[in-house]
Amino acid sequence: MSVVARQLARDEDDVIAGLRSHPKRLPCRLLYDAIGAELFERITQTDAYYPTRTEQALLDAYLPAIAREVGPRARVIEPGSGAGIKTRRLLAKLDHPASYVAIDVSREQLEHTATRLHQEQPDLEVEAIAADFTRAFTLPAPRSTVGRSLVFFPGSTIGNFEPFDAVAFLRRFQRFAGPRGLLLLGADGTRERDVLVRAYDDEQGVTAAFNTNLLAHLNRARGANFDLTAFDHRAVWNELRSRVEMHLVSRRAQTVRVGNESFELAAGEPLVTEYAYKHTALALRSILAAAGWRVREVYTGAVHPMRLWLCESASTR
Ligand code: AVJ
Repeated sequence: MSVVARQLARDEDDVIAGLRSHPKRLPCRLLYDAIGAELFERITQTDAYYPTRTEQALLDAYLPAIAREVGPRARVIEPGSGAGIKTRRLLAKLDHPASYVAIDVSREQLEHTATRLHQEQPDLEVEAIAADFTRAFTLPAPRSTVGRSLVFFPGSTIGNFEPFDAVAFLRRFQRFAGPRGLLLLGADGTRERDVLVRAYDDEQGVTAAFNTNLLAHLNRARGANFDLTAFDHRAVWNELRSRVEMHLVSRRAQTVRVGNESFELAAGEPLVTEYAYKHTALALRSILAAAGWRVREVYTGAVHPMRLWLCESASTR
């Protein structure tokens, strides 16, 4: 078990580029430093944030059926493995999984998750790759003869990508999974505006703290000088694009500095920090098809429009 850095060099500074665009944007991966990852765990425990528990219930109900489709000795590949709670449940239900490949930006979390998994399942080959999975990186070839590869991408993280980026991303994983590869994707659907907005603006202010931490992170990591009290958290449902948007709204006209660059913000001007697309079944079907994945099963609950998609590489036939 070892942690390998396979991140390719950043070709451009996306923070500066984002702050130069209109509306101003900041990359959502900056939400997930150590403090942000912890705040996100707290978000998942709020009443307002329904996605995590809804998906958990779906996994509990359908993992046995999914395990039958996957078969024995699978190689599980997980982009954005995080704390690995869902992973553990998946691996426990699969038939003698052969190997697990964890990919995450946080080295610390990777090391922790990989070590724990290896202790719990010594027969499992565990590989940890420190990389930003939204960007190009390479994947090692499996070391032992394994069954099918399964890309596990739960948590509605696909919702963070704009549609074209989602296609490019899912296509890349189709290559990694090989000719008989499978994909298990968890994605939230659309629902009432009020429920959506509340999920991204909880009463306790955990999501507000999570969003504001992005600025604190930039202050620490990039020598920026954001005044954390000069921004308000806001969640907006963008009906036309079918996405929730997280904004940090400037409370006053101000100048902020990031490294050597300065940026003017007007009073009321938003910084857009994250998108959470809510996909209709039709929208996700076309994204999957464009990325070369054929849908084998869609698992869903009785009430909530959240879905688990089990797909197969379209190149098998
Ligand atoms: C972990 C990216 C899926 O978009 O719902 C939660 C992140 N942001 N509350 C989501 C998030 C604000 C979450 N994802």
